[in-house]
Amino acid sequence: MNITVVGTGYVGLVTGTCLAETGNEVLCVDIDKEKVEAMRNGTVPIYEPHLDVLFERNIEANRLQFTTSLDEGLEHGEIVFLALPTPEDEDGSADLSYVLNVASAIGKKIKTYKVIVDKSTVPVGTAEKVKAIIAENANCKFDVVSNPEFLREGFAVDDFLKPERIVIGSSSEQATELMQKLYAPFVRSGNPIIVMDEKSAELTKYAANSFLATKITFMNEIANYCEKVGADVDKVRAGMGTDSRIGKRFLFPGIGYGGSCFPKDVKALQKAGKDEDYDFKILNSVIEVNKKQKTILLPKMENYFKDGLQGKHIAVWGLAFKPETDDVREAPAIDMMHALLEKGAQLTVFDPEAMPNIKKQFGDTLSYADSMYDALEGADTLLICTEWSIFRTPDFSKIKQKLKKPVIFDGRNLYQVDDVKNEGFTYVSIGRN
Ligand code: UDX
Repeated sequence: MNITVVGTGYVGLVTGTCLAETGNEVLCVDIDKEKVEAMRNGTVPIYEPHLDVLFERNIEANRLQFTTSLDEGLEHGEIVFLALPTPEDEDGSADLSYVLNVASAIGKKIKTYKVIVDKSTVPVGTAEKVKAIIAENANCKFDVVSNPEFLREGFAVDDFLKPERIVIGSSSEQATELMQKLYAPFVRSGNPIIVMDEKSAELTKYAANSFLATKITFMNEIANYCEKVGADVDKVRAGMGTDSRIGKRFLFPGIGYGGSCFPKDVKALQKAGKDEDYDFKILNSVIEVNKKQKTILLPKMENYFKDGLQGKHIAVWGLAFKPETDDVREAPAIDMMHALLEKGAQLTVFDPEAMPNIKKQFGDTLSYADSMYDALEGADTLLICTEWSIFRTPDFSKIKQKLKKPVIFDGRNLYQVDDVKNEGFTYVSIGRN
């Protein structure tokens, strides 16, 4: 099939590349000339495991192409994906201006039947709005469907190629059939394509992400309570997670969730509720608790360094909001570092991928180390904010040798408490004593 993807951000790029991989002719449209030029030359603009291999292969096979011309894009695709940004407005709602502007241009330009697919995470009712805007000018038949993505950063290619489910919101048989044909190669294993109305599909995305954010936040509160009563959250988690109604995943406590999706989607659903005079009390709490959780280790550090954090030298391991990404959006490390700098601490940081993005924000208020062990040189303590695999089995004697005080503050519970204590450290983690 001929496919057009408008917007080559994270979602657009993964969608376009993976659809080319199953033999479709994909044309990606972006207004950023430099980016389009770079992609034409084979440069992947984001870090995402395995994407580079697929990207290169499909460019070479001429199945993946790039343009800055929306006209060209609309000539090409039978199915047109909108993978445009929906940034958070000042009031927390999703800003739809990019999506609606492109919809308006589509209405003026399409000449033959097209399926327009909302891939961006958009509030309930957006497909309806997109449809109305296109219809103002369109001279031919078209359909708008909602097809939310459930891609995790770091696993996006795998999630796209082997999805647990595909959700399609459509009220047109013709559009549904085309979408099912397009996705058939990805669900050979028997995973479902779930077809529903557009509004339910739009809400599915918000509901799924808000539920997961709530699950994590609930565990973070249980962990905080464990510390008060001397229980061990690892044991509580194991005891809970074996109940199949609860499930083992997303029960890992830490210094809060971050990223481009959870924080934005939870706030957007909360705001969308308010617009309908519905107060999502549970989401209000999730937002509040998560904000506090991001700096939950600060009072613990202050408690340890009785003379205060002023002038203390702290090594920080992990800056990305989670491992296997260079994304630092809403990363707990950022809140923690701001809080520590405010207290007068000096920070030397290390992250396998996210240092350039952090440098853009923090400039020379931080020192940037070349390796995880270099970051420890002369530091008073080590703070861990992201669970990169490289941090999981460190050389504890090397850490001890380099730190002024044998103390580790771990926001991701990377180690067994007894193991670290046996190495002679004071070990402060989340929900374990
Ligand atoms: C998420 C959703 O998983 C994905 O389906 C959606 O489309 C986009 O948002 P992503 O933001 O890439 O994906 O990351 P994810 O792996 O889900 O983690 C989100 C955050 O939750 C991270 O900050 C992570 O550290 C945190 N988390 C996750 C926990 O604190 N504990 C857990 O048990 C799991």
